[in-house]
Amino acid sequence: MSATPRKILITSALPYANGSIHLGHMVEYIQTDIWSRFQKMRGHECVYVCADDAHGTPIMLRAQQEGITPEELIGKTAVEHQADFADFNIGFDQYHSTHSEENRECATTIYNRAFDKGYIKTKTIEQAYDPEKEMFLPDRFIKGTCPKCGAEDQYGDNCEACGATYDPTELKNPVSAISGATPIQKESEHYFFDLPQFAEQLKDWTHSGHLQAEITNKLDEWFESGLQMWDISRDAPYFGFEIPNTDGKKYFYVWLDAPIGYLASFKKYCAENGLNFEDWWNKDSATEMYHFIGKDIVYFHSLFWPAMLSAADYRTPTAIFAHGFLTVDGKKMSKSRGTFIKARTYLQHLNPEYLRYYFAAKLTSKIDDIDLNLNDFMSRVNSDVVGKTVNIASRCAGFVKKRFDNQLGEIDNDVIAPFIEKSDTIAGLYESREYGHAIREIMQLADIANEYIDEKAPWVVAKEEGKDAELHQIVSTGIQMYRLLIAYLKPVMPTLAQNSEAFLNVEAMTWNDTQSLLPVGHEINKFKALMTRVEQDKIDAMLEETKTELAKEQALKESTAPKKPSIEPIANEIEFDDFAKIDLRVVKIVNAERVEKAEKLLQLTLDIGDGTRNVFAGIKSAYEPEDLIGKMTVMVANLKPRKMRFGLSEGMVLAAGPGGSDLWILEPHQGAQPGMRVK
Ligand code: MSP
Ligand code: ZN
Repeated sequence: MSATPRKILITSALPYANGSIHLGHMVEYIQTDIWSRFQKMRGHECVYVCADDAHGTPIMLRAQQEGITPEELIGKTAVEHQADFADFNIGFDQYHSTHSEENRECATTIYNRAFDKGYIKTKTIEQAYDPEKEMFLPDRFIKGTCPKCGAEDQYGDNCEACGATYDPTELKNPVSAISGATPIQKESEHYFFDLPQFAEQLKDWTHSGHLQAEITNKLDEWFESGLQMWDISRDAPYFGFEIPNTDGKKYFYVWLDAPIGYLASFKKYCAENGLNFEDWWNKDSATEMYHFIGKDIVYFHSLFWPAMLSAADYRTPTAIFAHGFLTVDGKKMSKSRGTFIKARTYLQHLNPEYLRYYFAAKLTSKIDDIDLNLNDFMSRVNSDVVGKTVNIASRCAGFVKKRFDNQLGEIDNDVIAPFIEKSDTIAGLYESREYGHAIREIMQLADIANEYIDEKAPWVVAKEEGKDAELHQIVSTGIQMYRLLIAYLKPVMPTLAQNSEAFLNVEAMTWNDTQSLLPVGHEINKFKALMTRVEQDKIDAMLEETKTELAKEQALKESTAPKKPSIEPIANEIEFDDFAKIDLRVVKIVNAERVEKAEKLLQLTLDIGDGTRNVFAGIKSAYEPEDLIGKMTVMVANLKPRKMRFGLSEGMVLAAGPGGSDLWILEPHQGAQPGMRVK
């Protein structure tokens, strides 16, 4: 164990503020949180920060769609995200937002320093522009026909049908996904970060032990094809920070101020906890800084980010730890397959520690994807955590209580020895993010414990005369082994650890505690069930709810999707005055009858509040008269009565639909009363 405490800053990537946290995200937050909890258990000064990534076009547009301000949208999401994380036991020391004063300051400082050193260049570029919405269009907001295979409705940069990638200008019949208008090409001046100036420095840096080997190799390919200038500006309208001295016309591209959000969040933490921010960020800082990220955002973190930091004379990351993507049952998470499971949906049905354990058991230091197989998930958690681990405590606790007044006795040293000896190995595995291996080591110890208890059979010994001492030793050894297992599992399952600490009647355990045992005579508390089994019906319910959510989301999306603008003028346009003349009333259908010899008509008696009206309505093919009686609808009450073959019709009822049997009577809200005006 290291003697001097290290100073460690840890981050997870900042989730976008326009979507919910899903189980794919949770791979990263769980991986990071385990590491952070482990470092804290080791006694290091460790700060784990994160934030919402709140800027950019998608967030701006999403807010518009919902009819709220971007600030309201990100405020709402911040609450939702933080509740999800808290319920998954993600122990951030600080959770902030990129849309914060701290971030504005940090981004401006970094930009100004880079600018002063000549790393910022400007250049006029041409870009797709939505003439109706009056804004430049990011690639993913342009849709059209794939130039390769002809599939319709494809995004501006790649085709989901044939997998081709292309430039948005190559799309056939391109339209703006926002307004439906045909985009035009328009010029604008952009600001660029001069990445090529950092090429040599970055090449060194990426080969100096800060990155995983797979990543270094990938970057070598990128170096070979040459680094490009990085476009860091976006034109108004944009939700972000204004670039200094651009008169509010240019904004920082979301990816410029996103990683700076790490600094901003940490800055807030420093201010509130009396830490010296500069000590951690200056160039020769002795502190350590680690970024946990997904493999999709390696370019930003291993090239742009260190370059930006050096441009601003800040320290660069100690290491970047990339992980792979979550697949479900071997396939990419997918909405249509119903495997796009939200964190909240999971939490509504299952214990978060199950997933923490399962992910831990699968995680390595590599960037391979990890698979959530729900059958495997259930059997693994049930057998390892419930069957092998928690069971040890439940098998022994009863005897300690009933027979020994809750007090621990002597122990079997030989069997305990490997539990103490494994401490460094397990710590080393956590440190190197080989969690799966760590879990295997811990489960081997659990096997030893279970074999010991099976072999000693305390339930048999308990019934034998004069074997109290032996029984006491068996169950005390069992409890001591359980305590060590839980200490090792604590970074993974903090709630189980906390409840176990209460049961064991011990202070919060640190890694040092794995080197000692509870003294003879130590009193434990009453045993309560520490964890229940994963149940199939809970998993099914989670999947069912995921499907329902998807259906809801799709309905919402369809209702807000841009409609092709109608080019024709509205036929038969009427003036407002004409409309105002119509007396629309809520009415109650008090009677409805078939009309003899009339194919289409029903005769309706309508209560209009201050009397009744007789109306012949052409809705026979859609309704049985009996079903209509008692229902409310809306009628035109001041229509001139019309003499028909069957009698006088004194108005019209409103209905909607294509006709025939698909014709819907409007049904006003339940609070409607006959006679109410509809306007
Ligand atoms: N906002 C950026 C990150 C900015 S960091 C300065 C972003 N956000 S994200 O919400 O899309 O993703 C957040 C993190 O979750 C990323 O590290 C991403 O790789 C990770 N994951 C998102 N989906 C994932 C899976 N399906 N599987 C594993 N990790 C995934 O990127
Ligand atoms: Zn195609």
